[in-house]
Amino acid sequence: MRSTGRRKKSASPVTANVRRRKQSRPTMRRPSASLEPFTQLHLSVLSGWLRWPHVAPWYPAPEDNIAWAADPPEGGSQSLIACDSRPVGYIRWQIVDRETLDSVGLNDIPTNAVDVDLLLGEPEYLGKGLGPAALELLLGHLRANAALPLIGLTTSVENARAHRAFEKAGFRVARQYTPAGFGPCYLFVRPLHHERIPDREEAGA
Ligand SMILES: CC(C)(COP(=O)(O)OP(=O)(O)OC[C@H]1O[C@@H](n2cnc3c(N)ncnc32)[C@H](O)[C@@H]1OP(=O)(O)O)[C@@H](O)C(=O)NCCC(=O)NCCS
Repeated sequence: MRSTGRRKKSASPVTANVRRRKQSRPTMRRPSASLEPFTQLHLSVLSGWLRWPHVAPWYPAPEDNIAWAADPPEGGSQSLIACDSRPVGYIRWQIVDRETLDSVGLNDIPTNAVDVDLLLGEPEYLGKGLGPAALELLLGHLRANAALPLIGLTTSVENARAHRAFEKAGFRVARQYTPAGFGPCYLFVRPLHHERIPDREEAGA
Protein backbone atom coordinates (compact mmCIF):
# COMPACT_ATOMS: atom_id res chain seq x y z
CA MET A 1 0.00 0.00 0.00
CA ARG A 2 1.28 3.45 -0.89
CA SER A 3 1.78 5.89 1.99
CA THR A 4 -0.21 9.14 2.06
CA GLY A 5 2.74 10.85 3.69
CA ARG A 6 0.53 11.97 6.59
CA ARG A 7 1.34 10.82 10.12
CA LYS A 8 -1.42 8.83 11.77
CA LYS A 9 -2.69 10.40 15.01
CA SER A 10 -3.29 8.17 17.99
CA ALA A 11 -7.05 7.53 18.45
CA SER A 12 -7.02 8.53 22.14
CA PRO A 13 -4.64 8.96 25.06
CA VAL A 14 -5.72 5.47 26.25
CA THR A 15 -4.66 3.75 23.00
CA ALA A 16 -1.45 5.73 23.05
CA ASN A 17 -0.74 4.43 26.58
CA VAL A 18 -1.48 0.83 25.58
CA ARG A 19 0.90 1.20 22.64
CA ARG A 20 3.61 2.61 24.91
CA ARG A 21 3.11 -0.25 27.40
CA LYS A 22 3.33 -2.81 24.57
CA GLN A 23 6.51 -1.23 23.29
CA SER A 24 8.17 -1.27 26.69
CA ARG A 25 7.16 -4.91 27.48
CA PRO A 26 10.27 -7.12 27.51
CA THR A 27 10.37 -9.51 24.54
CA MET A 28 10.00 -13.26 25.36
CA ARG A 29 13.38 -14.95 25.02
CA ARG A 30 13.58 -18.59 23.93
CA PRO A 31 15.30 -20.54 26.73
CA SER A 32 18.73 -21.68 25.68
CA ALA A 33 19.46 -25.42 25.97
CA SER A 34 22.87 -27.00 26.37
CA LEU A 35 24.21 -30.48 27.10
CA GLU A 36 26.49 -30.57 30.14
CA PRO A 37 28.59 -33.35 31.68
CA PHE A 38 26.70 -35.79 33.92
CA THR A 39 28.77 -36.87 36.92
CA GLN A 40 28.17 -39.25 39.81
CA LEU A 41 27.12 -36.21 41.86
CA HIS A 42 24.00 -35.94 39.68
CA LEU A 43 22.71 -39.47 40.45
CA SER A 44 20.52 -38.29 43.34
CA VAL A 45 19.06 -35.47 41.21
CA LEU A 46 18.24 -37.97 38.46
CA SER A 47 16.67 -40.29 41.03
CA GLY A 48 14.35 -37.45 42.12
CA TRP A 49 13.47 -36.54 38.51
CA LEU A 50 12.54 -40.16 37.69
CA ARG A 51 9.90 -40.08 40.43
CA TRP A 52 8.01 -36.96 39.31
CA PRO A 53 4.45 -37.79 38.17
CA HIS A 54 5.07 -36.44 34.66
CA VAL A 55 8.12 -38.75 34.28
CA ALA A 56 7.38 -41.91 36.34
CA PRO A 57 4.74 -43.47 34.00
CA TRP A 58 7.32 -43.58 31.19
CA TYR A 59 10.22 -44.86 33.33
CA PRO A 60 8.72 -47.92 35.10
CA ALA A 61 12.08 -49.20 36.44
CA PRO A 62 13.89 -46.12 37.85
CA GLU A 63 16.43 -48.26 39.71
CA ASP A 64 17.58 -49.71 36.36
CA ASN A 65 18.03 -46.19 34.98
CA ILE A 66 20.09 -45.21 38.03
CA ALA A 67 22.25 -48.35 37.74
CA TRP A 68 22.84 -47.53 34.05
CA ALA A 69 23.74 -43.91 34.87
CA ALA A 70 26.13 -45.00 37.64
CA ASP A 71 28.02 -47.27 35.27
CA PRO A 72 27.07 -46.84 31.58
CA PRO A 73 27.65 -49.94 29.43
CA GLU A 74 30.05 -49.90 26.49
CA GLY A 75 28.66 -47.64 23.75
CA GLY A 76 26.55 -45.73 26.27
CA SER A 77 26.84 -42.01 27.10
CA GLN A 78 24.82 -39.42 29.00
CA SER A 79 24.48 -35.69 29.61
CA LEU A 80 22.53 -33.27 31.69
CA ILE A 81 20.13 -31.04 29.77
CA ALA A 82 20.65 -27.51 31.04
CA CYS A 83 18.53 -24.44 30.50
CA ASP A 84 20.48 -21.19 30.80
CA SER A 85 23.07 -23.26 32.73
CA ARG A 86 20.54 -24.73 35.22
CA PRO A 87 20.32 -28.56 35.09
CA VAL A 88 16.71 -29.41 34.21
CA GLY A 89 16.84 -32.82 32.57
CA TYR A 90 18.76 -35.85 31.45
CA ILE A 91 19.54 -37.48 28.09
CA ARG A 92 21.34 -40.76 27.50
CA TRP A 93 22.21 -42.65 24.36
CA GLN A 94 23.47 -46.09 23.48
CA ILE A 95 24.95 -47.51 20.28
CA VAL A 96 23.03 -50.73 19.63
CA ASP A 97 24.65 -53.81 18.11
CA ARG A 98 23.05 -56.22 15.62
CA GLU A 99 22.37 -58.94 18.17
CA THR A 100 20.42 -56.61 20.47
CA LEU A 101 18.39 -55.11 17.63
CA ASP A 102 17.45 -58.56 16.34
CA SER A 103 16.57 -59.76 19.85
CA VAL A 104 13.81 -57.13 20.09
CA GLY A 105 12.59 -57.75 16.54
CA LEU A 106 14.14 -54.61 15.00
CA ASN A 107 15.71 -56.66 12.19
CA ASP A 108 15.44 -53.87 9.60
CA ILE A 109 17.06 -51.20 11.79
CA PRO A 110 20.74 -50.81 10.84
CA THR A 111 23.57 -51.89 13.14
CA ASN A 112 24.97 -49.08 15.31
CA ALA A 113 21.66 -47.23 15.40
CA VAL A 114 21.71 -44.97 18.47
CA ASP A 115 18.96 -45.50 21.03
CA VAL A 116 18.09 -42.32 22.96
CA ASP A 117 16.09 -41.64 26.12
CA LEU A 118 15.43 -38.24 27.61
CA LEU A 119 13.43 -36.51 30.29
CA LEU A 120 12.92 -33.05 31.66
CA GLY A 121 12.83 -33.47 35.42
CA GLU A 122 11.83 -29.94 36.38
CA PRO A 123 8.12 -29.58 35.54
CA GLU A 124 8.22 -25.80 35.03
CA TYR A 125 10.56 -26.38 32.08
CA LEU A 126 8.09 -28.55 30.12
CA GLY A 127 6.56 -27.20 26.92
CA LYS A 128 9.35 -24.69 26.20
CA GLY A 129 10.96 -26.65 23.37
CA LEU A 130 13.88 -27.88 25.48
CA GLY A 131 13.31 -31.56 24.63
CA PRO A 132 13.49 -30.96 20.84
CA ALA A 133 16.44 -28.59 21.38
CA ALA A 134 18.35 -31.25 23.36
CA LEU A 135 17.72 -33.79 20.58
CA GLU A 136 18.99 -31.33 17.99
CA LEU A 137 22.18 -30.80 20.02
CA LEU A 138 22.72 -34.54 20.33
CA LEU A 139 22.15 -34.97 16.60
CA GLY A 140 24.83 -32.39 15.87
CA HIS A 141 27.24 -34.21 18.18
CA LEU A 142 26.56 -37.70 16.74
CA ARG A 143 26.72 -36.59 13.09
CA ALA A 144 30.49 -36.25 13.48
CA ASN A 145 30.63 -40.06 13.53
CA ALA A 146 29.93 -41.39 10.02
CA ALA A 147 29.56 -44.97 11.36
CA LEU A 148 26.31 -44.10 13.17
CA PRO A 149 23.37 -44.38 10.75
CA LEU A 150 20.37 -43.11 12.70
CA ILE A 151 18.85 -42.12 16.03
CA GLY A 152 15.90 -44.02 17.44
CA LEU A 153 13.58 -43.15 20.33
CA THR A 154 11.15 -45.63 21.80
CA THR A 155 8.20 -44.40 23.80
CA SER A 156 4.75 -45.60 24.82
CA VAL A 157 1.95 -45.18 22.27
CA GLU A 158 0.24 -43.21 25.06
CA ASN A 159 2.97 -40.62 25.58
CA ALA A 160 1.38 -37.93 23.40
CA ARG A 161 3.59 -35.14 24.76
CA ALA A 162 6.73 -37.02 23.73
CA HIS A 163 5.30 -37.83 20.27
CA ARG A 164 4.72 -34.13 19.69
CA ALA A 165 8.23 -33.21 20.84
CA PHE A 166 9.89 -35.92 18.72
CA GLU A 167 7.95 -34.91 15.61
CA LYS A 168 9.02 -31.30 16.14
CA ALA A 169 12.63 -32.54 16.30
CA GLY A 170 12.25 -34.15 12.85
CA PHE A 171 11.62 -37.77 13.98
CA ARG A 172 9.05 -39.99 12.28
CA VAL A 173 7.34 -43.19 13.47
CA ALA A 174 9.07 -46.17 11.86
CA ARG A 175 6.89 -48.78 13.50
CA GLN A 176 4.99 -49.96 16.56
CA TYR A 177 6.46 -52.76 18.66
CA THR A 178 6.30 -54.09 22.20
CA PRO A 179 9.65 -54.19 24.04
CA ALA A 180 9.50 -56.36 27.18
CA GLY A 181 8.15 -54.48 30.20
CA PHE A 182 7.04 -51.33 28.36
CA GLY A 183 3.76 -52.21 26.62
CA PRO A 184 3.02 -51.05 23.06
CA CYS A 185 5.54 -48.42 21.93
CA TYR A 186 6.35 -46.39 18.85
CA LEU A 187 9.86 -46.39 17.46
CA PHE A 188 10.65 -42.87 16.22
CA VAL A 189 13.70 -42.55 13.96
CA ARG A 190 15.72 -39.83 12.32
CA PRO A 191 18.63 -40.61 9.96
CA LEU A 192 21.89 -38.97 10.96
CA HIS A 193 23.38 -38.38 7.53
CA HIS A 194 20.56 -38.54 4.93
CA GLU A 195 16.87 -37.83 5.32
CA ARG A 196 16.20 -41.44 4.31
CA ILE A 197 16.52 -44.44 6.60
CA PRO A 198 19.51 -46.47 5.35
CA ASP A 199 18.92 -50.17 4.91
CA ARG A 200 21.09 -52.76 6.63
CA GLU A 201 23.50 -53.18 3.73
CA GLU A 202 24.05 -49.44 3.21
CA ALA A 203 24.79 -49.12 6.91
CA GLY A 204 27.33 -51.93 6.67
CA ALA A 205 25.24 -54.24 8.82
C1 LIG B 1 9.00 -35.63 26.22
C2 LIG B 1 9.67 -34.33 26.70
C3 LIG B 1 11.17 -34.53 26.77
C4 LIG B 1 9.33 -33.23 25.68
O1 LIG B 1 10.08 -32.07 26.00
P1 LIG B 1 9.44 -30.61 25.94
O2 LIG B 1 10.56 -29.64 25.95
O3 LIG B 1 8.42 -30.47 27.00
O4 LIG B 1 8.75 -30.63 24.49
P2 LIG B 1 7.94 -29.46 23.79
O5 LIG B 1 8.22 -28.16 24.43
O6 LIG B 1 8.19 -29.62 22.34
O7 LIG B 1 6.42 -29.81 24.09
C5 LIG B 1 5.83 -30.99 23.56
C6 LIG B 1 4.33 -30.97 23.87
O8 LIG B 1 4.11 -31.02 25.29
C7 LIG B 1 2.84 -30.38 25.60
N1 LIG B 1 3.05 -29.34 26.63
C8 LIG B 1 3.33 -28.03 26.45
N2 LIG B 1 3.44 -27.41 27.64
C9 LIG B 1 3.24 -28.33 28.59
C10 LIG B 1 3.21 -28.29 30.01
N3 LIG B 1 3.46 -27.19 30.69
N4 LIG B 1 2.94 -29.43 30.65
C11 LIG B 1 2.70 -30.54 29.98
N5 LIG B 1 2.73 -30.63 28.64
C12 LIG B 1 2.99 -29.55 27.95
C13 LIG B 1 2.36 -29.77 24.33
O9 LIG B 1 1.41 -30.64 23.77
C14 LIG B 1 3.60 -29.71 23.46
O10 LIG B 1 3.32 -29.75 22.10
P3 LIG B 1 2.98 -28.35 21.32
O11 LIG B 1 4.18 -27.46 21.50
O12 LIG B 1 2.78 -28.77 19.92
O13 LIG B 1 1.76 -27.78 21.98
C15 LIG B 1 9.12 -33.90 28.09
O14 LIG B 1 7.74 -33.73 27.98
C16 LIG B 1 9.42 -34.90 29.19
O15 LIG B 1 10.50 -34.93 29.73
N6 LIG B 1 8.42 -35.76 29.54
C17 LIG B 1 8.59 -36.77 30.59
C18 LIG B 1 9.56 -37.89 30.22
C19 LIG B 1 9.24 -38.52 28.88
O16 LIG B 1 8.09 -38.72 28.51
N7 LIG B 1 10.31 -38.83 28.12
C20 LIG B 1 10.18 -39.45 26.82
C21 LIG B 1 10.35 -40.91 26.92
S1 LIG B 1 11.81 -41.38 26.00
